[in-house]
Amino acid sequence: MDAVKAAIPRPVGSVDRLVRLARSDMDGVDALIVARMQSPVSVIPLLAEHLIAAGGKRLRPLLTVASARLAGGKGDAALKLAAAVEFIHTATLLHDDVVDSSQLRRGKVAAHLIWGAPSSVLVGDFLYARAFELMVETGSMRALHILARASRVIAEGEVLQLTRAHDLKLSQTTYLEIISAKTAELFAAAAEAGAVSAGADERRAAALREFGHSLGIAFQLADDALDYAGSAETLGKNAGDDFREGKATLPLLLAIGRSGAREADFWERVIGRKEQTEADFRRARELVVGTGALEATLDLAADHADAGKAALAAFPAGEWREALESLADFAVSRRA
Ligand code: IPE
Ligand code: IPE
Ligand code: MG
Ligand code: MG
Repeated sequence: MDAVKAAIPRPVGSVDRLVRLARSDMDGVDALIVARMQSPVSVIPLLAEHLIAAGGKRLRPLLTVASARLAGGKGDAALKLAAAVEFIHTATLLHDDVVDSSQLRRGKVAAHLIWGAPSSVLVGDFLYARAFELMVETGSMRALHILARASRVIAEGEVLQLTRAHDLKLSQTTYLEIISAKTAELFAAAAEAGAVSAGADERRAAALREFGHSLGIAFQLADDALDYAGSAETLGKNAGDDFREGKATLPLLLAIGRSGAREADFWERVIGRKEQTEADFRRARELVVGTGALEATLDLAADHADAGKAALAAFPAGEWREALESLADFAVSRRA
């Protein structure tokens, strides 16, 4: 069965179509982002701009805007929510790079290495607060509820992950719980909030939430695979960060299971006790690839992307639906 599956090439997705369709909406979102990251306290816009001007894929606000359009939204109601979603995401990146001691983000030196961890954390708080101001301005209690919940769940996911680092026996259930909270929840909320801004009924809002959730799981599974298979040039962040932090991600957990007693001492040293040399990451990467753990992680990501696409059947076929389907494939096939 696995051999058959491996012989079927995974679809390669792209965000190009979605970016083209959403261009004018996203211009509006970017204008809001630039306007709302301003503050008289000069280090705030300076630090925020360092990260925001470096780009980023803007996937989550794209998801909000596209979900609103797919759900029949006509005006600008989704734009403030989309900007809020990107601010929440940006805040989590500032916090996450401190927590993970990451050195590179969006191809630039991580903000905490330039301005220090305290400024980075506090500007993250500022961006969270800006997100809430934007959400309140929309006057939608439903959207506020969705995104407030997501902010809480992300924090829970990050803390849960922190308490489970170095756990060589982490169950796949707990791993999925972690990525569901730290990543998929915001994708789910981004899509659902877009639907809500368009006045979608419960069934359609739930379908878009389901799409966002599946997309988010697929996205993080691929991200965890890329930590072993990617390169800093395309990723804009260093490969091997998860390994160096001893993070129990699925490619690692599968490789540990599949390499058996032979490698038990190696894993115990490098992950359990976090005693690593430079050569250890290369060896780990060989095992992750050689045992098929990388491929299995991407297969699971593709299953979730397919589940997401199936959820979109609640909507009639059309350009927005197709563009979102392609986004699901991109989440798995991406290199950046
Ligand atoms: C990074 O997200 C954090 C994860 C959930 C893996 P993205 O890869 O979407 O980050 P940017 O916004 O494009 O930089
Ligand atoms: C992604 O965390 C989720 C959040 C930022 C909340 P990761 O630590 O897995 O992502 P990268 O690799 O730093 O982008
Ligand atoms: Mg990180
Ligand atoms: Mg992290």
